[in-house]
Amino acid sequence: MKLRIPYQDKITLGYSLARSAHFAAQQFSLPIFEFLTTGKRKHRHSLEPQKIKLAYTELYRLLKKDAENIQHGYYPMDVLKPENLAEHFRRYPRIIMDGYQIAKRRMDRNQKDFNEEANEFLKELPEYYQRNFHFQTGGYLTKESADLYEHQVEILFSGAADAMRRLIIPLVKDFYPGQGEGLHFLEVAAGTGRLTRFMKLAFPKARITVLDLSYPYLKKAQDNLHDFDRLDFVQGAAEDLPFQGGKFDFVYSCFLFHELPLEIRRQAVAEGHRVLKEGGLFGFVDSVQKEDTKDFDWALEQFPVDFHEPFYKNYTMNPMEGLLSYQGFAKIKKDQGFFAKAVVGQKPFSS
Ligand SMILES: C[S@@+](CC[C@H](N)C(=O)[O-])C[C@H]1O[C@@H](n2cnc3c(N)ncnc32)[C@H](O)[C@@H]1O
Repeated sequence: MKLRIPYQDKITLGYSLARSAHFAAQQFSLPIFEFLTTGKRKHRHSLEPQKIKLAYTELYRLLKKDAENIQHGYYPMDVLKPENLAEHFRRYPRIIMDGYQIAKRRMDRNQKDFNEEANEFLKELPEYYQRNFHFQTGGYLTKESADLYEHQVEILFSGAADAMRRLIIPLVKDFYPGQGEGLHFLEVAAGTGRLTRFMKLAFPKARITVLDLSYPYLKKAQDNLHDFDRLDFVQGAAEDLPFQGGKFDFVYSCFLFHELPLEIRRQAVAEGHRVLKEGGLFGFVDSVQKEDTKDFDWALEQFPVDFHEPFYKNYTMNPMEGLLSYQGFAKIKKDQGFFAKAVVGQKPFSS
């Protein structure tokens, strides 16, 4: 019998709000360091009071939904387990230093700035990928970038990134109730394995194949997930998956599609369809698109200006639901929270 903790949802929400305030404080500190180092004060649309109020209302709603999902048993409380605090605070000065490098790159509009370590990997990777996404140091191609990545994303989203990632889990649980016994999932573009952790906590008995193009990120995912079993790690591309057809029960990704050109987005959906079993589920979490919200139009326009995201504008204008339907996915369901949406669709059985 599941033990009910009194006020569990309120305690959970209180913790998540405090965590969010912590990352928001780090977010507000970074422009100060940026100003001190570059002498430039950025005009930030996001700092207009009306927009801040709306964004924080949506953030609150997302964290509340996340707490309710835990209460409902979609995933366990363990998803909120904080990382080692000493490690967290040791990383922060590195993030400030990196903020300086990012600001310089942003100022110079320099999106191809790689050191020897990154150059080593670069030559074998697709052209669209050979860039400093978000102006981040090393792109996705150094150990340091992989070490800082999750923390930087939480700062960017004021501590809501994890809850946005988890939006997809209830949609999958409703489709595959239980612990995942006998199921084989494929996580495409898993990065450092943040959503993989949450998926394993929700489906402890599922096998998950963890795939990414970046060797350093995949290596980091392997370190981060060493306490879980039934995981395989594969380096590969979403648009050319190194697997036979009809292998997986669920193929999903998080924060991938907005970083791909339209044609590669189409190929990645087609590849997901190919490697799924009939009746299997395809899904993703990513940024909301134009059709999903009017309130965040300003953010959808500002994001690719502040952060190097050359395919984002096109992404926002081409609804992913359309790509899924075109590929033949059916029974499309979605959920939305803060700046993200989760979408799933089923590969029909052939008659
Ligand atoms: C924004 S990060 C998201 C990482 C992770 N899913 C998360 O939730 O934090 C994008 C990831 O997609 C990977 N990626 C980009 N293009 C890819 C492709 N064509 N095939 C596989 N991985 C790709 C990058 O290496 C990076 O790890």
